[in-house]
Amino acid sequence: MCDGYLQGITAILAVNFPSKFEEFTHSGALYTISLALYKVFSIFLTKAAPWFTMLRSVNGANKSTIMNVTLKTPEDIEKMRIAGRMAAEVLELIGEYVVPGVTTAELDRICHDHIVGPQNAIPACLNYKGFPKSICTSVNQVVCHGIPSEKKTLKDGDSINIDVTVIFDGFHGDTSKMYFVGAPQAHAERLVQVTQECLYKGIELVKPGARLGDIGHVIHKHATENYYSVVREYCGHGIGRVFHEEPQVLHYGKPGTGLELKEGMTFTIEPMINAGKAQTKMKRDGWTVETRDGRLSAQWEHTLAVTATGVEVLTARQEENF
Ligand code: MF3
Ligand code: CO
Ligand code: CO
Repeated sequence: MCDGYLQGITAILAVNFPSKFEEFTHSGALYTISLALYKVFSIFLTKAAPWFTMLRSVNGANKSTIMNVTLKTPEDIEKMRIAGRMAAEVLELIGEYVVPGVTTAELDRICHDHIVGPQNAIPACLNYKGFPKSICTSVNQVVCHGIPSEKKTLKDGDSINIDVTVIFDGFHGDTSKMYFVGAPQAHAERLVQVTQECLYKGIELVKPGARLGDIGHVIHKHATENYYSVVREYCGHGIGRVFHEEPQVLHYGKPGTGLELKEGMTFTIEPMINAGKAQTKMKRDGWTVETRDGRLSAQWEHTLAVTATGVEVLTARQEENF
């Protein structure tokens, strides 16, 4: 194997996985294809270059992991509880500002100022892999990763997902919620409600011994029974000190398959459900993901911890009763 070739591969990895090789490329939303490529390269490099193996074990040192999935201690979970509550609080306070005439940049400013001010925390999205704002604002046909903009003014009848991630004391809390601008349109209201039910049905299954395939299956089943489709390119993710870590939490799957959940695992479930077809397209800004057919999309997200007997919703809002 010539050095040039190895360097080429390493450069590809460095571009795609700048911070740590363990971390995923695409913010928030993890491309299955990227992960597959990553796995192929990582097997290749493990065989080709012993130093790469060393890098991995240094990264993984002193961490309790199962198949690269970190297990959090009760002390870690306590910190994630605080970060999770902060993210939830941002979603609670932003609601009253989501009205006709507001720009998504204004919503971003309000969230940013609350996170860095009273919360004394860090908005995880700001500068994350080049993302320019502190929250994601995904309006109507935007599936995820909408960039807040002075040019985007909300109007009566819009539906919008606001996705907030904060870092406090080294740990992340990641959550999103749908809002209606003015009076909701009936078809949007129904999509938003079914999508929230998808999230809740997934959460209900979380406990030690359950499998990720069970969760994906129940989400896909509920969406398709309601004549909606499930976005496949983006998924939930492990979370902790790292924003996006293993496992990938797909929103479709086969019961009894996939990773078996253990106490101490922390991950998000964040189904993106489309009114029309599942296919998405990326806008030329490199972030905004839209439905290919231009029809509505909705998403809800929580950060969860697997407890001894079930689940704790780390980003629960006061309006919810978990
Ligand atoms: N919060 C998103 C997620 O649910 C990630 C957004 S990353 C950003 O995982 F860079 F787009 F902000
Ligand atoms: Co997330
Ligand atoms: Co999120």
